[in-house]
Formats: sequence, structure tokens, C-alpha cells
Amino acid sequence: MPGRIKRHTSIEILEHWVLAASGIILIFTGLGCLPLFKRYYITEIPGFAWTGDFNTVTTVHYTASIFFVMAVCFHILYHGIKKEFGLLPKKGDVKNGIKVMAAMIGIGEEPPSDKYLPEQRIAYIGIGAIILLLTVTGIIKVLKNLEWVVLSPSSEALNTIIHTLSGFIFMIAFIIHVAIVIFFKSNWPLLKSMFTGWVDEDYVKHRHSIWYEKIKGKITQEELTEPKETEPCKEEENAHKDNN
Ligand code: HEM
Repeated sequence: MPGRIKRHTSIEILEHWVLAASGIILIFTGLGCLPLFKRYYITEIPGFAWTGDFNTVTTVHYTASIFFVMAVCFHILYHGIKKEFGLLPKKGDVKNGIKVMAAMIGIGEEPPSDKYLPEQRIAYIGIGAIILLLTVTGIIKVLKNLEWVVLSPSSEALNTIIHTLSGFIFMIAFIIHVAIVIFFKSNWPLLKSMFTGWVDEDYVKHRHSIWYEKIKGKITQEELTEPKETEPCKEEENAHKDNN
């Protein structure tokens, strides 16, 4: 009978959704800080009058940024300490990424993949760089409000331009990230795993065959040395160890 394979721990799921929720709020309130909402009558929509008030929008932006920066720091430290680097690009990712994208629209066959797809790894490093740029320039914007931090007008203007531009790129990257998940049925099992933590063994066998081979290799070794454990929490723990 086909089984399930642990893809994400509860901590990773929480981390992703804190990053996602705070990221969405930051994009929305960032547009509000420009300010755009009064001009485009968003403030007229019932429940959105607050988006026209610069102080409120900025306060929400600042609050969301605390969660966002916390999630980013946690992500770097957590995966760094655990030496989980599966999302960093590998040789051949561009070529294989194109093949995976082509296969999503029915052209050709998907190449065998590890835990993450090649275009996921490329997107990760791209969005990671944008997030770092946004975070650093955002922190500078907060610091320059303190009376003992003085920036020259030109460096302040440059920082603001970089923050706004990287914010726009982040928004486009976010739209692409969500569209690729939602509009391609082949990615739906990944979306499910971002809520439950699990993916079907059959899906992994076919789409992430390199990862599957790795897991199977380890499971076989463990089965030889450890007694079979059926309790759900132990099963979850073992599966996670195998995944990374
Ligand atoms: C600003 C908002 C968001 C950011 C910054 C973000 C960031 C990320 C990152 C860094 C990853 C790879 C890390 C990992 O696998 O743990 C990821 C994966 C993923 N995200 Fe997001 N995300 C955002 C919003 C969303 C939203 C709204 C959805 C829902 C459609 C979503 C669905 C997914 C899925 C399905 C994966 C793939 C998981 C896998 O490979 O198993 N994300 N996201």
C-alpha cells in the first residue's frame, strides 16, 4: 500500500506561513506607504478606510516587518545550524529548471529531481537575495529615524530607491511563486505539504526520484539497525531525519 513521506516539520510550516503572512502584509502596506490607496479609491472599500491613514499603515508595516525579519533570521539560523542546504542551487539547475517548466505545460518529460525542483532552488536564491536587500534597506530606514543616526540626503534617497525597487521585485516574485503553485496541478501536492507536512510516497517516487532513492537508502539502513516503530510521533520524527 502506498505510504506518506514527511516533507516539512511543523516548525518549517510555521516559519513559512509567518514569512508568507508578514510578507503579504508588508507588500500591501508598502504600497500604502507610497501612498497609493487614496489615489486609487481603495480607501472607499468598506473596511479599508484605515489604508488612507499614513500613521496606521506605517505602524502595520513596522509590526509585520518584525515578524518577517524574525522569520528570515530563524530560517537562516535553523537551516544553517542543521546544515540543510537542499534549496541552494546546484550545477545544471538552469537546464533542468527549463525542462521542468516545459513539462508543466506538457512539453517533454520532467528530469528526475531531488527534494526540491531545480527551478525552486533558482527561485530561492533569487528571492533570498531580494529579501536580504529589502531587510537591510528597511532596517536602515528605521535607524535613520533615530536622532543619533544621520545619513546624507543622497544616501537616504538611494536607500529609499533600493527599498522601493526591491519591494516591487519582491511583489512580482511573490505573484510568480503563488501562481506556479496554484496554476500547475503537478505542484498541488507541495501546497498540501505546506499545511500537513506530508506528501504521498507515489508522488515522491515519480517526481522526486533522487530524493526517494536517498530516503529509501536510509530507511533500509535504519530498518536493519532499529526496531520497527508505529507510533505517529516517532514515525514523524524518523521521517524528518530521513528527509534532510
Ligand atoms: C511573501 C510571501 C511568501 C514567501 C516569502 C514565501 C517563501 C517561500 C520559501 C522561501 C519557500 C521554500 C522554503 C521551504 O520549502 O520551506 C517556499 C515554498 C513554498 N511556498 Fe511560499 N512563500 C510565500 C507565500 C506563499 C503562499 C501565499 C503560498 C500559497 C500558495 C506558498 C506556497 C508555497 C509552497 C507550496 C512551497 C513549496 C514547498 C515544497 O517544496 O514542499 N507560499 N515559500
